Amino acid sequence: MEDKLETRWTEEDTLHSYNPYRELFREASARVVKDVFEKYVKPSEVIVEIGSGLGELVRLIPEYKERIQQTEQSPKVVEGNRTLNPNSNIRVANVYELPFKDGSFDIATGYSSFDTLADLGKALREVRRVLRPNGKFVHFLDIQGSANTMFHNYSNQEVVPFPLFELDATDNLMHGIGLQLIKKPYIKRLRDFFISKHQGLAGWFDAYVGNPELMFCSAYNNNNRYESVLRMASDFVKESGVGSRRVGFNEYFKNNLEGSLEQEGYEILESANRDGVAVVQRNGRHSQNLKVNIFHNDVGNDRSKYDLEVGRELEPGKVKVISTLYLAVARKK
Ligand SMILES: C[S@@+](CC[C@H](N)C(=O)[O-])C[C@H]1O[C@@H](n2cnc3c(N)ncnc32)[C@H](O)[C@@H]1O
Repeated sequence: MEDKLETRWTEEDTLHSYNPYRELFREASARVVKDVFEKYVKPSEVIVEIGSGLGELVRLIPEYKERIQQTEQSPKVVEGNRTLNPNSNIRVANVYELPFKDGSFDIATGYSSFDTLADLGKALREVRRVLRPNGKFVHFLDIQGSANTMFHNYSNQEVVPFPLFELDATDNLMHGIGLQLIKKPYIKRLRDFFISKHQGLAGWFDAYVGNPELMFCSAYNNNNRYESVLRMASDFVKESGVGSRRVGFNEYFKNNLEGSLEQEGYEILESANRDGVAVVQRNGRHSQNLKVNIFHNDVGNDRSKYDLEVGRELEPGKVKVISTLYLAVARKK
């Protein structure tokens, strides 16, 4: 299936861009993945990974590398994976048409890949085919659920998705956590409100309504340079009093995944956030700000801060790293 949404992932650069963020949390993310694999994967079992990208999952659990058949839709990304890992067993394969016989695997896994799929139901049906009876599906989400998937879904509906930023009490910062859906008949009222706040916003507003996905994603993914515009839009939507439905990126993926798993004949064994904790040397990655001693990845939100008590507990030069991943485990019925 050629889909506008999925061809977004044909470039290696998109995947490399996660690296500076992930580098802060890798030891802690690895803890979660190791614990989950120890719980659900028996020593003789064979595993297929969907959407392996540049090989983040096997990087976290190198001891499983030989048993994981990595797959990836994009030939360019496959090439990039092989350049980084010359012995990689990755092969080009689209989740909707996997080149494997029925019942070939005990486990199917994915690391921040199923949230990017345009047709989750169809993908889980194909995964079910290549799983043996009682085989398991294990998925981890370490970065926020894909915004593109939400835009894709809402583009055919009578709504315009605006950004949603919310204040987090743990670090007192605004985080972009989802979208506020405005029904199209209310857009004129919202436009008037935006212009009443700032005359110059008319052009931006019209461009946004014309192509919300492009305007949102280019601002959001541009190293936070234009994030302030999205934050302002989020505030104005809230202040305007125009009714909206709020949907979080992670909550959207969780609901979508749980619903699709149930519909496609899986029994959900776990669907929850899981923490991994590591105490590591304050090295090049963690030394940017000495006033921070806890680095927390909360499924794609960075909630780093300084904690006095943790400061007293830690040996000099060490920092605490916490990575919260959203985990879903299900069994083929
Ligand atoms: C957000 S990236 C994650 C990649 C990697 N697992 C990681 O964590 O870095 C999503 C990956 O899913 C792949 N993907 C998207 N649609 C796919 C499809 N239809 N079949 C197989 N892989 C797909 C993309 O090419 C991309 O590599």
